[in-house]
Amino acid sequence: MEKREQLYEGKAKKVFATDDPGLLIVSYKDDATAFNGQKRGTIEGKGIINNRMSNRLMRLLEKQGVPTHFVEELSERDTLVKKVGIIPLEVIVRNIAAGSFSRNYGVVEGTPLLSPTLEFSYKNDSLGDPLINGSHVLGLGLATREELVTIRNLALRIDEILKHFWASCGVTLVDFKLEFGRLPDGTVILADEISPDTCRLWDSATGQKLDKDRFRRDLGGVEEAYREIMERLEKSMEAMK
Ligand code: TMP
Repeated sequence: MEKREQLYEGKAKKVFATDDPGLLIVSYKDDATAFNGQKRGTIEGKGIINNRMSNRLMRLLEKQGVPTHFVEELSERDTLVKKVGIIPLEVIVRNIAAGSFSRNYGVVEGTPLLSPTLEFSYKNDSLGDPLINGSHVLGLGLATREELVTIRNLALRIDEILKHFWASCGVTLVDFKLEFGRLPDGTVILADEISPDTCRLWDSATGQKLDKDRFRRDLGGVEEAYREIMERLEKSMEAMK
């Protein structure tokens, strides 16, 4: 399958049409942004790592019954995916307080939550991706009641699967962001990516951050952290075979 016209360029990926109207090619870049694009930079090799990691995690999820857009890895940076209509929500699942949760609710970063929390942001850069609740989602017509039930169930299921997998890598899954989309028949499936850009991943023993917070917070060792987390994933997946 080959790339045809470029349909879209986002902050971290480009999307291309293919000769099959039901399939797209996503191409992962090394560009990194934070705080709604106010901070910009490059994380060398990030696109290669995020592409491979997201594909491996989506395959793991598929094996456990979670439908995803993943079809086939085409090259280091390019992946064939099912075309979906993206539901404009950032679905955030948290196991441990960090980031905006700690700020908004006054909870020290690193405090375990008594049960996983789920929140939605309205995916809209000009509004700064504001937090919204389920009734906002229904009132704005962003998703139906049935779709919301599916999204909530899938998000919590994904959390269970990924927590367990990352634990086998000696990594704590602190929180992560998901995006879902609709196939032409209306089925809701997992889309976008799962990578160190979209998850907080802490070394379980030391608490060391192995994710994009190293870039967001100017902690240094950004490329090293992406390489380290990828190595851990590959070792653990190798052992699972
Ligand atoms: P937050 O604590 O800043 O709200 O982030 C929660 C999780 O969502 C964290 O794992 C990082 C991820 N995230 C994204 O993937 N994209 C974003 O634009 C933001 C703000 C967070």
